[in-house]
Amino acid sequence: MFGYIKHLLFCLCRWYRNDNRIILHKQNGKIIECLRYSGLTVSFKGKNSIVEIFEPIKFERRLLANRSKIKISGDNNYICINSTNRSIHNLQVRGMCSNNKLIIGKNFYGMCSIDFCWLDNMVMRIGDDCMFGQDIKFMLGDHHSIYNLATKECINIPRKGIDIGNHVWIARNVRIMKNVTIPCNSVVGAESVVTKEFKEQNCVIAGNPAKIVKTNISWDYANTK
Ligand SMILES: CC(C)(COP(=O)(O)OP(=O)(O)OC[C@H]1O[C@@H](n2cnc3c(N)ncnc32)[C@H](O)[C@@H]1OP(=O)(O)O)[C@@H](O)C(=O)NCCC(=O)NCCS
Repeated sequence: MFGYIKHLLFCLCRWYRNDNRIILHKQNGKIIECLRYSGLTVSFKGKNSIVEIFEPIKFERRLLANRSKIKISGDNNYICINSTNRSIHNLQVRGMCSNNKLIIGKNFYGMCSIDFCWLDNMVMRIGDDCMFGQDIKFMLGDHHSIYNLATKECINIPRKGIDIGNHVWIARNVRIMKNVTIPCNSVVGAESVVTKEFKEQNCVIAGNPAKIVKTNISWDYANTK
């Protein structure tokens, strides 16, 4: 009887939430749907969006940092956060458009703010083993258009989403703009503004606009001595 009522309530909530779902993959292989996840606030306004979370995962609230939040107002969006033994704090995802995809790879550590606000059909991928510092922002599009005076053609439409390779360290206060690719094993220096696609792996990329400043490097979590 109790199980039936619980299921009924769940279905009502789902209907109320317009088929938006939070799907949780437990460590024991079970897949369940839930209405919330500890440490993470998810709010939906559109229809048919999915937030998929793989355990183990821990959304932590650090002192002076905001709680992690995913706010989706468009339709058919998909957000996948893979398992990590490190902690995620102050992850902020805003998606006001539709058919967007965000995939965060395994063993992610850190915090960041991702804006999917102004575009449909965008994909953002963060590879495995990435470490992000404070106050990083990803802007998948520009919101306002810049156009050619003669032809009136819009010249700042994003060509693609943002792609962060595996094992990338992005230091604090970095801004990553549309169409950016950061290759595997790279470091992005603090306060940098990255505006284009980089192809060479194992580099330090830094500055505004960011350029390669060091090659043949890698990084790890160890403190510098
Ligand atoms: C990226 C970083 C790790 C590079 O350190 P490094 O390998 O010792 O690099 P160097 O200091 O030797 O700098 C190499 C060149 O890049 C430039 N550079 C380095 N970091 C830069 C940055 N953030 N912005 C602009 N230019 C930068 C240097 O001016 C130097 O230029 P030059 O060769 O023309 O003299 C470091 O600068 C940085 O940003 N650290 C992040 C700190 C941080 O946010 N920590 C919090 C934890 S996430």
